[in-house]
Amino acid sequence: MAKLFAEKVALITGASSGMGAGTAIHLASLGCKLSLTGRNSQNLDKVIQDCIKAGAKDGDILKTIADVSQEEDLKKIVDSTLNHFGKLDILINNAGILQTGSVESGSLQVFDDIMLVNVRSVYLLSQLAIPHLKKTKGNIVNVSSIAGLRSKQPVEKNVRKNLVSTL
Ligand SMILES: NC(=O)c1ccc[n+]([C@@H]2O[C@H](COP(=O)([O-])OP(=O)(O)OC[C@H]3O[C@@H](n4cnc5c(N)ncnc54)[C@H](OP(=O)(O)O)[C@@H]3O)[C@@H](O)[C@H]2O)c1
Repeated sequence: MAKLFAEKVALITGASSGMGAGTAIHLASLGCKLSLTGRNSQNLDKVIQDCIKAGAKDGDILKTIADVSQEEDLKKIVDSTLNHFGKLDILINNAGILQTGSVESGSLQVFDDIMLVNVRSVYLLSQLAIPHLKKTKGNIVNVSSIAGLRSKQPVEKNVRKNLVSTL
């Protein structure tokens, strides 16, 4: 397994906590080079230290502070990754927000926020990354949820997860 990932460049959104952080640390242990993004700089620094403890070299980790709801930030994430590493092998669209509410009790603002952060960013970042992933015969991993297939969760989350599963 380690050989499969050694020297690969993985870009992970939402790497500053939770599953994105866990994925970064695991890939670091397998020899991956990492482009880590999120908005919380302090949390990203902590994850970077954990990646180094797991075996990554300092120069093999790039930190880019970016808000995935902003188009220019998505371009910055891809550009900084390519400038630093010269290639991209894996895109992990992991960043996401959870808001509760239903059609009955929710608001259009919540719906729009979820679409912007959880769906639109996945679409655009993938679009920006695909030309580079084709060159490396790379992959995209979209972090969705079982809620996208079946659940009693709030409807906005289900809509979003269905869309991400479709992408
Ligand atoms: N945990 C679960 O049980 C579960 C179940 C099903 C699906 N999921 C999905 O798995 C993914 C990760 O979930 P998690 O539980 O690990 O969540 P989490 O700990 O809350 O992490 C979410 C990550 O997304 C980033 N993020 C949120 N909004 C952002 C924005 N506007 N711009 C850039 N980054 C942003 C956060 O970084 P910053 O705060 O630094 O910006 C954070 O690193 C999400 O897509 C979630 O929907 C989780």
